[in-house]
Amino acid sequence: MAKYQRLGVNIDHVATIRNARGGLYPDPVRAAKMAVAAGADGITAHLREDRRHIRDEDIHALSREISQPLNLEMAATDEMLTIALRHSPHAACIVPEKREERTTEGGLDAAGGLKQLTPVVERLRAADIRVSLFVEADPRQLDAAVTLGAPVVELHTGRYAELVGQAQQDELDRIIDGAAYAAQIGLECHAGHGLTFDNVGPIAAIESVAELNIGHFLIGEAIFGGLDSMIKRMRALMDNARANALGARSA
Ligand code: PXP
Repeated sequence: MAKYQRLGVNIDHVATIRNARGGLYPDPVRAAKMAVAAGADGITAHLREDRRHIRDEDIHALSREISQPLNLEMAATDEMLTIALRHSPHAACIVPEKREERTTEGGLDAAGGLKQLTPVVERLRAADIRVSLFVEADPRQLDAAVTLGAPVVELHTGRYAELVGQAQQDELDRIIDGAAYAAQIGLECHAGHGLTFDNVGPIAAIESVAELNIGHFLIGEAIFGGLDSMIKRMRALMDNARANALGARSA
């Protein structure tokens, strides 16, 4: 069992907060650099069709400015393929995408989509981009990854993250079995979606899972790690400005 498991940090939701105001901050590239400085082994970003968080310019900047590998999450569309080929990220993780969903709900139907996926996987591989498929821990989907020639699968942990009690344990067992099967058929196995401090342990302990990709919780939790000192800094700036203004007036 490899001692070290890689951590990819997904910075999409820094862009969600930026876009809420339409300005330039918070900057997802700055967050990516901070994540790398903090030990992230890679940066993950999902360029969605509707550009609700990450935008084309972010992918452009990330692919030039970060020192760790970029993992571009993308739908298997001509538009996204063109963008991936233009920026040549280290990896491309193909995800299912529906406009109306709030986040990626369920894994990619690789087994049912061989015809559409084959040319996309082939072109990414020909460009030396490491292809990963975001799938459920279902042997049919894992076999399809092998058929497609994708070297990596990312197992969807979203359902595991939402369930509780025995149902969560059953889903965890399914992921453990899926990860073992993926390794057996020669796939590199990653996992992600919905992981938090409370639920990451059992997934991090799965022997054949080489990488976790985690975003939403980390970005949300960063608020609580940083809000206190940001308020204190703002308070100090206000107090200094007032003190200077009063000093200037009384001089
Ligand atoms: N992996 C994939 C393929 C995803 O689509 C996402 C969400 O964009 C993640 C990992 C990260 O999930 P979360 O933001 O819930 O940690």
